Amino acid sequence: MSILSVNLAENSYDIVIERGALTSLGQRCRAVGLKGVAAVVSNPTVAPLYGAAVQASLLAAGFTVASIEIPDGEEYKNSTTLNQLYDSLLSAGVDRGSFVVALGGGVVGDVAGYAAATWMRGIPFVQVPTTLLAQVDSSVGGKTGIDHPKGKNLIGAFYQPRLVLIDVDTLATLDQRQFRAGLAEVIKYGVVVDLQFFEFIETNSAAILEMDPDILIKIVLRSCQLKAGVVELDEREAGLRAILNYGHTLGHAFESLSGYRGLVHGEAVAIGMMLAVRVSAAEGFCSQKELLRISTLITRCGLPDEIPHYDRQQLLDAIAADKKSKGGNLTFICNRGIGNYAMSHHTPEELLILSGLEA
Ligand code: NAD
Ligand code: GLY
Repeated sequence: MSILSVNLAENSYDIVIERGALTSLGQRCRAVGLKGVAAVVSNPTVAPLYGAAVQASLLAAGFTVASIEIPDGEEYKNSTTLNQLYDSLLSAGVDRGSFVVALGGGVVGDVAGYAAATWMRGIPFVQVPTTLLAQVDSSVGGKTGIDHPKGKNLIGAFYQPRLVLIDVDTLATLDQRQFRAGLAEVIKYGVVVDLQFFEFIETNSAAILEMDPDILIKIVLRSCQLKAGVVELDEREAGLRAILNYGHTLGHAFESLSGYRGLVHGEAVAIGMMLAVRVSAAEGFCSQKELLRISTLITRCGLPDEIPHYDRQQLLDAIAADKKSKGGNLTFICNRGIGNYAMSHHTPEELLILSGLEA
């Protein structure tokens, strides 16, 4: 078992990473002082798999449990789902002395976390992430929120969980496509923060793709360490934290153009990373050799290497919708070599040219 601390003064919390960790959820919630009704928010895919274990652990620790489901899918990460969730919290008697448990992938974590952030002006919540993407990225760092029809994650709050409990055994039921999508965020850390980790992923890609549990624990642990390190320095993304958006500016554009259906989030990030490497090479931040090495690893991990085709204006509009856009210029994260980052500022038009999307 590994326990990492995310040190954020009064918002500090632990990330517990352990095979079979679900059984200890109730005790760990008690240990961090949670009380009242545990509102377990999940979805129709994850609840039948892990809802009973989570409920049993919470009941054994003396909590009252309310099980709530939201629909499964990015297309439901919206205000309609959020309002339905508020209705369920009300019916279940979830008051300021209660807490939310987010059991699922990044969609459940983001929506349930945002509900917790806003319900009765904020009640505690616990992240129990069950996708690789959620275990290595979205459950850590306190970004919560929902999509707006005009753009992804446009509505949200920074709201840290009280505890993140990661049971890597839950990945056993994840389909290959979702597992590979999560690898995009793992590769991201290697590319912009840690060359040694990039090399570890390169060397162990076969074992990773076979989902070897010992290797999975290592990549989840290192990813969480790297993410926590960045969040501790810049909780509210005043500057440094933006490096974690590597591959996301253009990735989000493709994700929204696909109607949040054609591409899953991690695949869109992989496409965005393919393009970010090209921008980085065009700007002189990395060599052609490094470009090839990064794109080869992305492809080897089974992530998409074909860039979907959209017309110029659709692309420009989708890129401009990025919430990090300030006065038409976007902060664009590049890789400096491998294992380091550079920040640049560009208009959407410049990004089309630098990424090779427009000759
Ligand atoms: P997801 O939540 O849609 O989960 C993917 C699919 O896997 C879903 O169908 C889900 O029901 C299913 N699933 C989850 N766990 C499973 C399991 N153990 N076994 C079988 N099926 C399982 O997608 P995701 O990739 O986990 O998360 C993507 C979301 O995360 C996006 O909305 C993205 O914006 C958000 N995100 C947030 C942050 C953040 O910092 N808050 C960071 C990265 C991504
Ligand atoms: N996934 C980007 C961040 O948490 O800042």
